[in-house]
Amino acid sequence: MTLLALETSCDETSAAVIRDHRILSNAVSSQIDLHAEYGGVVPELAAREHLRNLMPVVQTALREAGVTVDQLDAIAATQGPGLPLALLVGFKAAQALAFVLQKPLVGINHHEAHLYSPWIAGSPPVADFAAFQPNVSLIVSGGHTMLVHVASELKHRVLGSTLDDAAGECFDKTGKLMGLPYPAGPEIDRLAQSGNPLAYEFPRPLLQDTNDDFSFSGLKTSVRYFVRDRPALLEQTQTICDLCASVQAAIVEVLVTKTIRATKRLGLRCVTASGGVTCNSALRRELTRACAARGYTLRLAERSLCTDNAAMIGILAEHKLAHQTAPTGLDEDIKTAWSLG
Ligand code: KG4
Ligand code: ZN
Repeated sequence: MTLLALETSCDETSAAVIRDHRILSNAVSSQIDLHAEYGGVVPELAAREHLRNLMPVVQTALREAGVTVDQLDAIAATQGPGLPLALLVGFKAAQALAFVLQKPLVGINHHEAHLYSPWIAGSPPVADFAAFQPNVSLIVSGGHTMLVHVASELKHRVLGSTLDDAAGECFDKTGKLMGLPYPAGPEIDRLAQSGNPLAYEFPRPLLQDTNDDFSFSGLKTSVRYFVRDRPALLEQTQTICDLCASVQAAIVEVLVTKTIRATKRLGLRCVTASGGVTCNSALRRELTRACAARGYTLRLAERSLCTDNAAMIGILAEHKLAHQTAPTGLDEDIKTAWSLG
């Protein structure tokens, strides 16, 4: 089966071609530079940019895959959750394509695509669901932080999620307080390499709570007070590096501890992680260390598939079609607040 997938839920316009569980192409046009000026994603601008970029990105994906439109067997697109106007661009385009080509459409939940993305691996990347094991999955992005129990393929239950800021949001907002450009997550990761994670003690919110929820707004507030009370420190490069390393250590410790605790409680032996924050080198290192110490299998989404992309949408859509999931109606609407499971 050859499938074209579209992703426009936030600030990345992406199109991918998937054939028989392989990624033939995965074109991504990022809007980061556009939104950086405003310190965050501006929904109206995002939608306009998706409109401008979608067709060129689709053409690039088809060209790189060496596939023509008449060779497509199905169309997939993110149906939700996400920014309403942004979602509309990709999902309505996918419905129109499916109508014109008379091919099935699969509307995909963006978080579900992240959830299964750790099972895409190799070069060229291929879906490796044959290796699937029941697992606890950590989804960490700019908008969401979730722990999910994945009992079997396509069967999952949310264990806990963030009560306020998501982990990515915490990276971005604390970085902004330090004067770093948006999105600050990758920059904090880079500067933290030269910093001391023990330099400053920041709160580890909900670390001791036995539930699987997260909360990062207290940590953000604590960084706000730190920066307000010691403005002179921010003029020293080493202080910024130490601050980055300390904030990163607090976020990573909470994420890793709660993920491992849930895995142990459920008697599972496999952990997966996905979403933009899974690019973070300290998170990858600490999850690797914690899982190795317990003999757990760890599947981290490939770095190129952590941030938003259409390949993960297409891989999940093809898997769903193979498992007899009914196609999505051409008159269906976007689901802006579609919850996972
Ligand atoms: O999954 P994603 O691309 O978009 C959403 O669905 O939100 O995640 C974007 C988030 C941003 O908050 C960004 O700062 C964060 O992922 N991020 C990182 C790193 N790379 C991306 N955070 C920490 N360290 C990184 N290396
Ligand atoms: Zn995402």
